[in-house]
Amino acid sequence: MTDSKRPRRIGVLTGGGDCPGLNAVIRAVVKTAHYQYGIETYGIEDGFTGLIDKKIGPLTPAKVSGILKQGGTILGTNNRDNPFKHPVLVDGKLTHVDVSDKVLKTIDYNDLEGMIIVGGDGTLSIANELSKKGVHVVGVPKTIDKDLSATDITFGFDTALQTAVYSIDKLYSTAASHHRVMVVEVMGRYAGWIALQSGMATGADVILIPEIPYRIERVCEDILRKEREEGREFTIVVVAEGAKPEGGEMTVAKRIEGSADPVRLGGVAFKIAAEIEQIAGKESRAVVLGHILRGGSPSPFDRLLATRFGCAAVHFLMEGKHGHMVSLQTPRIVPVPLDQAISRLRLVPPDSEYVATARAMGATFGDGK
Ligand code: F6P
Repeated sequence: MTDSKRPRRIGVLTGGGDCPGLNAVIRAVVKTAHYQYGIETYGIEDGFTGLIDKKIGPLTPAKVSGILKQGGTILGTNNRDNPFKHPVLVDGKLTHVDVSDKVLKTIDYNDLEGMIIVGGDGTLSIANELSKKGVHVVGVPKTIDKDLSATDITFGFDTALQTAVYSIDKLYSTAASHHRVMVVEVMGRYAGWIALQSGMATGADVILIPEIPYRIERVCEDILRKEREEGREFTIVVVAEGAKPEGGEMTVAKRIEGSADPVRLGGVAFKIAAEIEQIAGKESRAVVLGHILRGGSPSPFDRLLATRFGCAAVHFLMEGKHGHMVSLQTPRIVPVPLDQAISRLRLVPPDSEYVATARAMGATFGDGK
């Protein structure tokens, strides 16, 4: 694959939902490759779609200069395309085909000795499949949900938490003025870390997370009791998009077939606000923060972690530690096998000290405890 006269070359792509810090990773990859190893980096556009449609080109230190502070990803991303289940229309009917060999050819044609693939569990599962087909892959974990178990934390979460806290803080005055219940929905499909930590950091009265199913009657009883006990007439509820009632399901907004995780959530806050109005007789409003949490300039913590991850990913690739993901095991960045990295989600343990502390502050999870 390598021609000795040509500079060596690696590729980088961002897949899945965007999050603050992706550009800091891209910058770190390009700079480490250039300054430490004298090799070129090619950027792949729009996640795996770019490898299928050959949307690929050189990234230089000049091209990544100034992107450290930018939200989103200059490469574009995609959380629909999967080379092992690529959507195509056959006789007007949508089917999914395996185009992974085409992806391998694109990598080979562009002389990419290795790929740095930045993404969450869905993207890293695909990266793992490509690694099993012989591609030299190093994964970089990203998710605002903080739900990957193989790393202490991912970049994106800290910025999302700050945005959530800033937004929820603003709802207190309007809730108090109107004597209302404000139900704020934050992201977090399987893991309720953003809801739990933003709820705790703003002193929310009700925190609903996927890991602790709620009963709406209990939520209503707790709202009325706490308002009485604390002598006020407003309540703040923070709910993770993936929260579900006991024996019930998550609120699914739509499904995107072929995507590594086809379910798209959203709207649970509207359902809960309507139920509170009906059962507790309290005027309620729903606010969905949603993708606002994924936007904006990364916090200093996220810039640093993303830079460390991008730099370490290049080192691991050059040291032959492919088939691995970079992981923060404080204080070190270490390689963990991709198989292991995607095998388990980091969920909020219902008996954790965090949950116990929230309960001690008088917050309810709607589970009667
Ligand atoms: O996984 C990160 C995440 O932000 C989830 O919390 C959310 O369910 C999902 O991405 C939303 O994805 P999309 O951008 O397709 O709406």
